Amino acid sequence: MNVSVIGAGYVGLVAACCLANSGHNVICIENNREKCLMLINGHVPFFEKGLEALLARGLENGKLNFYSNISYAKYSEVIMVAVGTPSQPDGRVDLSQIFRVMSEISEMISTPVTLIMKSTVPPGLGLQLQQRFLNGNSHLISYVSNPEFLREGRAVKDWYDPERIVAGTEIPGTIEILRKLYNDIGAPLCIMDISSAEMVKYASNAFLATKISFINEIANLCELVGADIEPVARAVGMDSRIGSHFLQAGLGYGGSCFPKDTKGLDFISTLNGHTFNLLKAVIEVNARQRVVAIRKLSRMLGTLCGKRIAVLGLSFKPGTDDIRESPSLDIIRMLVDEGAEVSAFDPMARLPQHRGIPQGFIMCTDVLDALESCHGAVVITEWREFVELDWEKAHSLMIPPRVVLDGRNCLDPLKLSALGYVYAGMGRMSGKLC
Ligand code: UDX
Repeated sequence: MNVSVIGAGYVGLVAACCLANSGHNVICIENNREKCLMLINGHVPFFEKGLEALLARGLENGKLNFYSNISYAKYSEVIMVAVGTPSQPDGRVDLSQIFRVMSEISEMISTPVTLIMKSTVPPGLGLQLQQRFLNGNSHLISYVSNPEFLREGRAVKDWYDPERIVAGTEIPGTIEILRKLYNDIGAPLCIMDISSAEMVKYASNAFLATKISFINEIANLCELVGADIEPVARAVGMDSRIGSHFLQAGLGYGGSCFPKDTKGLDFISTLNGHTFNLLKAVIEVNARQRVVAIRKLSRMLGTLCGKRIAVLGLSFKPGTDDIRESPSLDIIRMLVDEGAEVSAFDPMARLPQHRGIPQGFIMCTDVLDALESCHGAVVITEWREFVELDWEKAHSLMIPPRVVLDGRNCLDPLKLSALGYVYAGMGRMSGKLC
């Protein structure tokens, strides 16, 4: 099929590379010329396992082409919209890129096309977009909401092996187009109306975020009553009605989706006259986990003022260089505000200067350099580099009291205690503070 993907961000680029790899002729439109040029030269602007190889293959066999002008999408059979819908400070979803692209598409189309909405948009928007931009063109443009559930770090795998494909449309014929487009993907197709498909995306992310905040609350309570979150979460998750995934207690969720979509859904609820109390609590608990970590460190060290702390991990999870909404950003700011000196290390992620990171913060290129002369360390991301670190050597470089706050419960408490560290996890019995 001849497919255009609008936007070479995280979702758009994965979609474009995977569709080209499946044999479709793909045009990817990226209006940032610098980024577009980078892609033409085979460079992926962010790290995603396996993506650079797919990009190289698509460029080489001519199945994948990049342009910055949307007019190249004019004669495609399918146009997939994958532009950003970032969060505003009040939680509102910024739809300006969607409106711009929809207006450009409706003006240029002169042959029948299926428009697939991949961007996450508030439930109800698709119907509005149809009315506002497509009504004059409805004989030419068939609209389908087709949200994505790609996880960073395993997006290519998730593309080819999703648990379901959600399709919301009012035009039955578009389903056949989707089947043709995804003919090498064996997942069940869930067909529904447009607004319901839009809701599936928000509901899925909000539910997963709820599981995380729930287990973090149980972890906090475990510490107070002298229980241990690890066996608790394991046994709770063995109930198949609950499931074992997303019960890992720690510093809470970050990334490009959960924070944006939970706040977005809360805003949409309020806008529609509904107070989504449960979701508000999920968001609040997640923000509070970062403060819980600072409070723990402070209690373990007596004071943070004048202490040197190593921050291990910047990315919001391992396997990615993405630092969006990562707990690391808030924790570094709070540590510096409390008067601590901070040295940080991440195997992949870097902090751009414009992120508003304060003075008194040093970025190191080696984990042991980051730990040298530190009174304490906080593990933000469960990178293998930290789990497998030579903690004995680190001990000789750090200075008393050698506190380790394991924000992801990924280290061995007994091993660290035996080496002479003062260890605390999140809700772990050995991390209980008296
Ligand atoms: C998520 C969804 O999983 C995906 O379906 C959607 O399309 C985009 O958002 P992603 O942001 O890549 O994907 O991250 P994910 O692996 O889901 O983790 C999100 C955050 O939750 C991370 O910060 C992770 O550390 C945290 N998390 C996850 C926990 O704190 N505990 C858990 O048990 C699981």
